[in-house]
Amino acid sequence: MTNHHTTGDGGSIESRLTEQEYFRPPPEFVGQANVTDSSIYDRFEENWPAAYEEFAELLDWAERWDQVLDDSNPPFYEWFTGGKLNASYQAVDRHLPERKDQTAILWEGEHGTTERIAYQDLYRRVNEMAAVFREVGVAEDDIVTMHMPMVPGLPISMLAAARIGAPHSEVFAGFSAQALADRIDDAGSDVVVTIDGYYRRGEFLDHKEKADKALELAESDPETVLLFTREDELHEDVSIDSDDPYVLVDEVLQDKQGVSVEPVARDAEDPLFLMYTSGTTGQPKGTQHRTGGYMAYVTATSKYVLDIEPADTYWCSADIGWITGHSYIVYGPLSLGTTTVMYEGAPDFPHKGRLWEMAEKYDVDIFHTSPTAVRMFMKWGEEIPRQYDFDFRHLTTVGEPIQPEAWLWYYEHIGGGDAVIVDTWWQTETGGHLITNLPALKDMKPGSAGFAVPGIEPAILDDQGNEIDPATGQAGNLVITKPWPGMLQTVYGNDERFIDEYWRAFSDTSSDDPEDWVYRAGDGAVHERDGYWRILGRLDDVMNVAGHRLGTMELESAVAEVSDVAEAAVAGRDDPEKGTVPDIYVTLREGVDPGEDVRDRVVGAIEAEIGTFARPANVWFVDELPKTRSGKIMRRLLEDISNDEQLGNTTTLRDPSVPEDIRRQVQD
Ligand code: PRX
Repeated sequence: MTNHHTTGDGGSIESRLTEQEYFRPPPEFVGQANVTDSSIYDRFEENWPAAYEEFAELLDWAERWDQVLDDSNPPFYEWFTGGKLNASYQAVDRHLPERKDQTAILWEGEHGTTERIAYQDLYRRVNEMAAVFREVGVAEDDIVTMHMPMVPGLPISMLAAARIGAPHSEVFAGFSAQALADRIDDAGSDVVVTIDGYYRRGEFLDHKEKADKALELAESDPETVLLFTREDELHEDVSIDSDDPYVLVDEVLQDKQGVSVEPVARDAEDPLFLMYTSGTTGQPKGTQHRTGGYMAYVTATSKYVLDIEPADTYWCSADIGWITGHSYIVYGPLSLGTTTVMYEGAPDFPHKGRLWEMAEKYDVDIFHTSPTAVRMFMKWGEEIPRQYDFDFRHLTTVGEPIQPEAWLWYYEHIGGGDAVIVDTWWQTETGGHLITNLPALKDMKPGSAGFAVPGIEPAILDDQGNEIDPATGQAGNLVITKPWPGMLQTVYGNDERFIDEYWRAFSDTSSDDPEDWVYRAGDGAVHERDGYWRILGRLDDVMNVAGHRLGTMELESAVAEVSDVAEAAVAGRDDPEKGTVPDIYVTLREGVDPGEDVRDRVVGAIEAEIGTFARPANVWFVDELPKTRSGKIMRRLLEDISNDEQLGNTTTLRDPSVPEDIRRQVQD
């Protein structure tokens, strides 16, 4: 199977797929699963949207809702209106009577230090941190930007902000100073949270450096930067100038010992957080998530899809800086009162068995990772996991399509043939899983994400917006035709962009009938004849690099800032490990010689604007870029070149010989 897809000028989306066999969920799994009654699918179909009350009832509301769904103003849907609740109360307070001594967060530092934070400790630390936020002036509805790595201070800060009704906006620690500055500006944050540093592959990374630079680059002027320290004291290489806005968290905490801060009852529709993500145009957008619908959705999917029980040790190896970590390390698992594992460092430090060693040590029951990671484990070889004695009952994948070979390897060598594999398709915008199996109810099929979550109505449209008959095995645009509680509320501060990015393509935007509004996922998919959904990958100018989303536009505008560059275009190259990696095609200004120096500056610009994780595979210097008569760059032809494939339709090009010239230049 290949993930590579093309949207030809006629808009046909091809897929080259081979049929796969089915695997039954093991009886031991089914015997203990949280959902074993298949009537759940019918219940949601017959009783939509009221059935979503089942999700909301998994939470403890301060006030019950009046209405499940208010769809009077599409696409601005409102969920559980009239209800009030606090997210930190769901994740912390409500577990105290039954399991205050149980570990809530099990953190392991890269050096091997373990910290077990029991629910009681988590309660104390979240309350104290909430008091710190209040002390530095954070009020309800102020957005707190965080730029934190995988240390306990991150979930504690998120929950503390949620406690006082301040939405958080966590920026993945791998993002550059510029990316952080842009997000601080867009969110208008007065308070930022960061740390002096953290460990990666044995080295201490100075992280404050990025905040220092972000403060210079930001247009706004945050009043306070709360600085955690990785160890008990500020690292010797890191210092604070007296006129800096930095405040040591530990110092403010000193007189906050044991204080309690009442959780603020938030309206169900009050925002809980922003998560910035790449889109097809312009700057990253702040995906805004609500409190009630989001919490209900991630709690229910954690229970029904991830099959989490309070007694479990659950480990999602994603970074909390992405949506997967928000929904399925922090909010969902903690809301269910389980033990959630967090690991600070690299999976191959100090050796390639690190993850399995931890899985054995902590007796992890459920393990959740990405296909990119599975491909890496495969490359390292099955001898590595074989050395450890771990026993998972449930394995999840997320972020990219998983090739059947990788699926089978994961099933056999990590699952030992007796764990379920649950492929979960969703997005930053969807808040939680949309297409995935309820694992005890459906057979597994390698390479297919499975069926829709109860209540979710996917469909496949052709490029003209006509629905392709269900279960006919044809590829097309994946859309969701009904709203769901976990969906984004809007793009922060930009309702127009929300409509443009997700709805305009396939909706009648002048209508106020929700039937006329269709959510465009941006992915290609096939609804197979047996009813399974198979996801093909992005159809728009968004790339999925090792499970991280990158917009071609962002990469291109970073490169355009290099002075010698005339024009740049980015194409995704299929990569056996990372899924896709960016190739950059560059034309240079007159008189500039292509060479290492320009190449380094191009790569440097991407690292500075976005982060090192976005580093391109290749920078190709070419004479001309393929353009249509109207001057539009045809990236899909570059994609064909990068992937060594036959060129697609070139008839609309101003100069049809350009792609072959480029191919020659690239192959030289
Ligand atoms: O292309 C799809 C892919 O990841 C995109 C969403 O990326 P992001 O918002 O960063 O969220 C990642 C974690 C939810 C989707 O549009 N994707 C995600 N999960 C899968 C997937 N592709 C195939 N199979 C999946 N299970």
